[in-house]
Amino acid sequence: MKFFIDTANLAQIKEAHEMGILDGVTTNPSLMAKEGIKGKKAVEKHYIDICNIVDGDVSAEVISTDFDNIIKEGKHLSKLHEKIVVKVPMIKDGVKAMKWFTDHGIATNCTLVFSAGQAILAAKAGAKYVSPFIGRIDDSGWNGVELVQQISQIYSIQGFKTEILAASIRSSLHIIQCAEAGADVCTCPLDSIMGLLKHPLTDIGLAKFLEDAKKFA
Ligand code: G3P
Repeated sequence: MKFFIDTANLAQIKEAHEMGILDGVTTNPSLMAKEGIKGKKAVEKHYIDICNIVDGDVSAEVISTDFDNIIKEGKHLSKLHEKIVVKVPMIKDGVKAMKWFTDHGIATNCTLVFSAGQAILAAKAGAKYVSPFIGRIDDSGWNGVELVQQISQIYSIQGFKTEILAASIRSSLHIIQCAEAGADVCTCPLDSIMGLLKHPLTDIGLAKFLEDAKKFA
């Protein structure tokens, strides 16, 4: 399973990248706004700055909702940097636009996916990634990880090549459960990635080893 970081914060992206375990970045308009980036040029520069830190794909989301403008915006975003993947919402014009991007060699990430039916449409449109929103599904009383399992089973039976990118991750446990459920990628907040490191027996064991090492230093 690939690890993406779900943030537009450059310091956090650098920190995950420096650990050597980062395969890409996802952003969305809310994450960009959180960084206080204002204006089209500043947003574009920020995407390029992110691309210059990481080695893998960087999702940049369109904010248009009609076919013509999604195409115009997506074409522009894809030209900013070769690592850019155009993130498109799961709406009718979005599906049509993803098929157009697929036919024109532009990679897409289908976002705001909450059902298996939506994931089938994303795959039919040739999206490189489909993004089920795990945490938001859990928030509404459904089971986000079960959706990842269901999509994984459908894609496997049908031979769809679209990669399942588990998004809206809220915890380290979500990452583990998504790995078990067959996610190809998990896009996570830095805290959830760092949480995977933690085990009290590791800390206790290391303290004991370091203490014993003093005996023969
Ligand atoms: O990748 C989608 C993600 O950013 C949404 O996360 O926590 O706002 O549901 P959240």
